[in-house]
Amino acid sequence: MSKQTDFRYNTGATKVPWAAVGENYNEADLMEIIAFLMQGEGKAYEKAINAVWKQVKKLAEVATPPGKLSLGSQVEAAEEACNAYLGTDSSTFVTNATAGFEIAYKYANLKEGDEVIVPAITFVATMAYPLAVGAKLVFADVDPRTINMDPADVARKITDKTKMIVPVHIGGYPVDLDPIMELARKHDILVLEDAAHAFGAMYKGKKIGTIGDFAAFSFHEVKNITSFGEGGIATTNIEGFGPEMKRARFFGTDFSAPIKDWLYNVTPIQGKYGPFVALNSSTTEIQGLGLKLQVARNEEIIEERRRAAAYLNSRFAGCDAIIPQDLGNEDIKPTFHLYLLQIDPEKAGGDVQTLKKKLEEKSVTNIPHFGPLYRFKVVSDMGYDAEEIAKSCPVCEEVFYKRFTHLPLYGLTDEQLEYMADAVLEAVAEMQAGK
Ligand SMILES: Cc1ncc(COP(=O)(O)O)c(C=O)c1O
Repeated sequence: MSKQTDFRYNTGATKVPWAAVGENYNEADLMEIIAFLMQGEGKAYEKAINAVWKQVKKLAEVATPPGKLSLGSQVEAAEEACNAYLGTDSSTFVTNATAGFEIAYKYANLKEGDEVIVPAITFVATMAYPLAVGAKLVFADVDPRTINMDPADVARKITDKTKMIVPVHIGGYPVDLDPIMELARKHDILVLEDAAHAFGAMYKGKKIGTIGDFAAFSFHEVKNITSFGEGGIATTNIEGFGPEMKRARFFGTDFSAPIKDWLYNVTPIQGKYGPFVALNSSTTEIQGLGLKLQVARNEEIIEERRRAAAYLNSRFAGCDAIIPQDLGNEDIKPTFHLYLLQIDPEKAGGDVQTLKKKLEEKSVTNIPHFGPLYRFKVVSDMGYDAEEIAKSCPVCEEVFYKRFTHLPLYGLTDEQLEYMADAVLEAVAEMQAGK
């Protein structure tokens, strides 16, 4: 495959050049950016930042600005870093994971009447596109141990209208993908992995996000690593679709060859059942640089998170009312994006709603962020009957209302981790004592 270049900027040695970027960032802007990324106050901070300001002014006298701010060499370098890390060749850096999902859904030519199986517990981003185009969402119940999609329930809910299955690796814990891939192959269904939390997770020796037909990772600011607050990497296993995904990032434009008469080479993208028109999910060079830098630290970050999870497990080991986070094994390596805290309501003397309240009172942030999507207003207002769906997802109802919450794992001091473990144990002890 020839390397794609952006012909629009190769205008040659002209007397009246056209600048590839509009207004550049100057030294004053750069200082604001540094002060934003490295905040502080007090005398020592003022002294240090003034010293930087002096140096930045000197630097500005000899420096030149970048010739490109969007979809250039930094974006490519980030994609290459992701390819090397994941062992794929299709990484495409898009505005966010949701934009990556959109390309996959469009490849499936999703339309009204088609069915998409999503897990009952996830974030709204997983299913926003099918909901928006009027495809039917079918909610698979979850595995009580991981709260991930249960392959056995997926099998029960496949029909001849099912176009896609969307496993979500919640909290970075890999979904059991083998049975899902087997079902998908048997019924000719596309699999889109929502790997928003799972950059670096492994399933049976393979990186998560390289097993389904499509996947997208999120680099939104709350994820394990970020690209300046927003970003996503989309991948595909569809033969020949890697370069097409790059075109799908920008309206279906082919930048690989000069165009004739400035009539852009924009064509529809070939989906599974027919062509589709792509939109714009381009990313900036600064985001590319930011992602490349953080990908290099990903393994260390996962290890630090794993250590925090192992510490919490060791603290909870003596309490049989607490079901600890599964730390994985040879086959399953999570990213520890979140700590899945579960309780046995009978042994704990109450359910997780009480525990969540107690944790809040003890100033511990728990993150009850992922819940039964069929109970979201956006879903019921689009004509779904939450009570009917709930009947087909009994495990989801049980774990969400009675058993689980998520705890943070990263950026905590040893004291904070210890405080959080103490608070959980105290809260459960209070519940057991009927307080
Ligand atoms: C499970 C899940 N899927 C998808 C997304 C969407 O990611 P993005 O914000 O990059 O579109 C999120 C974001 O929080 C998520 O939690």
